[in-house]
Amino acid sequence: MRKVSSPAEAAHTLARGNLAIRPTETVYGLGADADNREAVGRIFTTKSRPANHPVIVHIAQQEHIYMWATDIPEYAIDLGTAFWPGPMTIVVKRLPRAGGYLTGSQETIALRVSSHPVFQEVLAELARSKNDPSVGIAAPSANRFGSVSPTTLAHAIEELGGYLTDEDVALDGGSSHVGVESTIIDATGNQPIILRHGGITAEDIESIVRLSQSESDVRAPGTLASHYAPNKELKLTTQSELLEKTPGALIALSDIKTPIGFNRIATPKNANEYAQILYSSLRDADKSSEAVIYAIPPTGGGIAAAIRDRLNRAATK
Ligand code: TXA
Ligand code: MG
Repeated sequence: MRKVSSPAEAAHTLARGNLAIRPTETVYGLGADADNREAVGRIFTTKSRPANHPVIVHIAQQEHIYMWATDIPEYAIDLGTAFWPGPMTIVVKRLPRAGGYLTGSQETIALRVSSHPVFQEVLAELARSKNDPSVGIAAPSANRFGSVSPTTLAHAIEELGGYLTDEDVALDGGSSHVGVESTIIDATGNQPIILRHGGITAEDIESIVRLSQSESDVRAPGTLASHYAPNKELKLTTQSELLEKTPGALIALSDIKTPIGFNRIATPKNANEYAQILYSSLRDADKSSEAVIYAIPPTGGGIAAAIRDRLNRAATK
């Protein structure tokens, strides 16, 4: 794996059928040209990801969804208009171009327009080199299957550097400013259903269209009970229960004081900051000398729901 600094070089790497680690506003992704079955196949082996876990295809703009998907409901267009480019992924019925190698053999495809300027440049350059504006980059988070997602280039390289070839590249784009993965929305029914909480909140979505309260029958296999897990034991707790615990590493909002003996890893001032530092804090806590990591999840709606979701999975064995 080579570090490169130009989006064009990353795009040319993708066009040649190799892989590129690149930033998005949510987390770093491991990308492949979505039209290249073999390259997408290497994403799965590199991440050690089971083949039935579909990947998200990132496109440059909303109008390109028609080149990958069909039967798109009007509310999905409204959501795209409101929140793309941004941390939102929609699951819609696939066209043949979105092959089973992308979708875990399901009849749906997950599509997203990322707002990261570096990512947009990679897509634009890939579109130029393939002479096709509707190109897509298939990109799951750039971590080994089940482990903590990377929000910096260094963390992505720590995860995957050892599994990439000399032909693959890694492109820096600074720290991901959202910090947790995109919100995934099942847009195959009459009303949208949230499959994974993320940067676009339930409240954001409800401002455009009513969310369905029913369970989705779309299978989102990546949303396992245990995911995003650090190596050390992670325990979720509350401010009052914390005082009875044997000291360890601590991640909590800044209005919570550090009890004597605890090793404070992070003091985010609000839920947005909490989301930003969540994954890097889990990594820092893993590297600390403490045996146990405590986290006090934020309460309330908005992005706090996504943080609680990730912490719950990270704490599940
Ligand atoms: O923010 C993000 O979404 C990041 C960045 C890199 O864009 N990507 C990401 O990808 O989180 P990944 O592969 O780690 O998670 C993708 C999730 C999985 O839970 C997968 O099951 C679900 O999307 N998914 C993908 N295609 C699907 C489909 N056709 N139907 C249902 N779920 C799908
Ligand atoms: Mg992931």
